[in-house]
Amino acid sequence: MSKKELILKINNIEVKYHEVILVIKGVSIEVPEGSIIALLGANGAGKSTTLKAVSGLLKHEDGQVTDGSIEFLGQRIDRMGPEKIAKMGIVQVIEGRRVFEHLTVEQNLKVGAHMRKDGRSIKDSLEMVYHYFPRLKEKRNEVAGLVSGGEQQMTVVGRALMTRPKLILLDEPSMGLAPLLIHEIFNIIMRLNQEEKISIFLVEQNAKLALSVAPHAYVMENGRIVMDDSAEKLKENPDIKDFYLGMTDFGGRKSFRDVKHYKRRKRWLT
Ligand SMILES: Nc1ncnc2c1ncn2[C@@H]1O[C@H](COP(=O)(O)OP(=O)(O)O)[C@@H](O)[C@H]1O
Ligand SMILES: [Mg+2]
Repeated sequence: MSKKELILKINNIEVKYHEVILVIKGVSIEVPEGSIIALLGANGAGKSTTLKAVSGLLKHEDGQVTDGSIEFLGQRIDRMGPEKIAKMGIVQVIEGRRVFEHLTVEQNLKVGAHMRKDGRSIKDSLEMVYHYFPRLKEKRNEVAGLVSGGEQQMTVVGRALMTRPKLILLDEPSMGLAPLLIHEIFNIIMRLNQEEKISIFLVEQNAKLALSVAPHAYVMENGRIVMDDSAEKLKENPDIKDFYLGMTDFGGRKSFRDVKHYKRRKRWLT
């Protein structure tokens, strides 16, 4: 990994729910400033828990970082509440694209501006979001509960952008979306990283997709990191090819359905 300054450093953390359920064990992850880092793993591995440990949202689920530490730009955040962490510039886009269904798309976006600390106007931030998501501009007056799944996913990413974050924690943005839309959303994620210099910590079960945008990734199984390497190396790794990429030889392509099929098998095995 490069010697760039780290925006996020997770040092050997342990996470428990309800004081007894040990879910994360000795996990260390580094996100260099300005980069996209992916966390891969099957359903139930502990990926969302790791993101919630960073954003502080664990506390809402009676979870706690019981060992190790988490640093954001050199400052410890693992004992802070979620509001304070958000104010520092971390935003989590939680799994399952939860929009406020009865609000319009634009009202949903404005909710995100509420946490912001800098002086930029809501209007400027909305313009920025609409610049990256022109579809949201078209749909801005529609009720969010009634727009498509892809547009809802764009809305929650847009809402996160309204907070003007330094680091976005993205939890399975591809889940349940059609391949074309996934492509569109991931292109925008890459542009946000390159053009707005936002660091991204991306959680995905879809390894192929994640490795197409993240130059470096970690692999989690049963609450532990079992591997971390460059995307290039991971794509060539036979275990990763078998278990996470859903392809039998390098460069071979399988459909999404095949990948999903594999995931079901894997879940069943673990
Ligand atoms: N609020 C909770 N209370 C107790 N156990 C939980 C809670 N949330 C998640 N878990 C458990 O923690 C493990 C990891 O879950 P999660 O982090 O959601 O995995 P992933 O995002 O990789 O699918 C699972 O066994 C899950 O059942
Ligand atoms: Mg999850």
